[in-house]
Amino acid sequence: MLRSCARNLFRLAVRQYSAPAAATTSKLSPEEIFKREDTYGAHNYHPLPAALSKGEGVFVWDVTGKRYFDFLAAYSAVNQGHCHPRIVKTLQEQAEVLTLTSRAFYNNVLGEFEEFATKLFGYDKLLPMNTGVEGGESACKLARKWGYQVKGIPKNEAKIVFVEENFWGRTLAAVSSSSDPDCYGEYGPFMPGFELIPYNDLAALEVSYFRPRKRPKSCASCNSSLLSALQTSQMLNISTYAQLQHELIIL
Ligand SMILES: Cc1ncc(COP(=O)(O)O)c(C=O)c1O
Repeated sequence: MLRSCARNLFRLAVRQYSAPAAATTSKLSPEEIFKREDTYGAHNYHPLPAALSKGEGVFVWDVTGKRYFDFLAAYSAVNQGHCHPRIVKTLQEQAEVLTLTSRAFYNNVLGEFEEFATKLFGYDKLLPMNTGVEGGESACKLARKWGYQVKGIPKNEAKIVFVEENFWGRTLAAVSSSSDPDCYGEYGPFMPGFELIPYNDLAALEVSYFRPRKRPKSCASCNSSLLSALQTSQMLNISTYAQLQHELIIL
């Protein structure tokens, strides 16, 4: 049993790191590809000048055949690597049977995935999302609802505290919590109930948290590294920290 597991792992490793086939060729040069995207695509991103056309495991290739390590991994969306044959096979098998169901119905596999993931990570429940920003949006909603239901914040008075220079997407809520003019410029009016403080500034967090009640009460702080900083800081005494830890939802 152990030996067969090791063999499979070895096969996986060989497959991931073996010499790849040549990159798919393109009729267009990289410059022509950049220009076409610039011409027909919305300018909501500033891509690096590499026109990728193939991936395998940790590697990607551009249209000239140049190979790169994919350290970005689509901001973690392909942490599993590119084109793993088992994943490709499973995707194809599922698409041939049932392409998509909306959440308006149950289906025969969603619960299996939810059960597996919650048991693996030790969470109570799972909310699958298509994009990163939906995760952030849902976290804001969850924090507000928790604030109203558990903490007793008066209706519509919740406040969420973000650290400056954050980035979590491009929706109106996300840009409303941004300190980057490129993100929020000309997109107002913005989401109320958001407050920005400098990164790693515990005094600012304390001020924001204990602001008088006539201001919206804090129901969440948006950065787990802020909590780690709180844990090690000499600036807050233990009871203050314990209170904050109890009352903040860390997103
Ligand atoms: C750090 C970070 N968070 C969130 C997002 C938003 O993810 P998505 O584009 O999938 O909504 C991105 C990417 O745009 C990101 O770089």
